[in-house]
Amino acid sequence: MYVCICNNVTERDIEQAVREGARTVDCLADRLAVSTCCGQCRCYAEESLQSALGTLDGSEELPLAVAV
Ligand code: FES
Repeated sequence: MYVCICNNVTERDIEQAVREGARTVDCLADRLAVSTCCGQCRCYAEESLQSALGTLDGSEELPLAVAV
């Protein structure tokens, strides 16, 4: 589903950006140009970001120990 019509950004684009390290809407704007034209999509972009972050947190494996 499209999140930002002005820049053809989809939920999948946001999910991919999150997997690559995006953690804020401003970061998504830098990477994907989401919310950089009319700005009507900013709230939905934030919702999509939070959803993608939730998915990421649930699927990542955390290290059990860190070497020092
Ligand atoms: S819909 Fe995203 S900037 Fe216009």
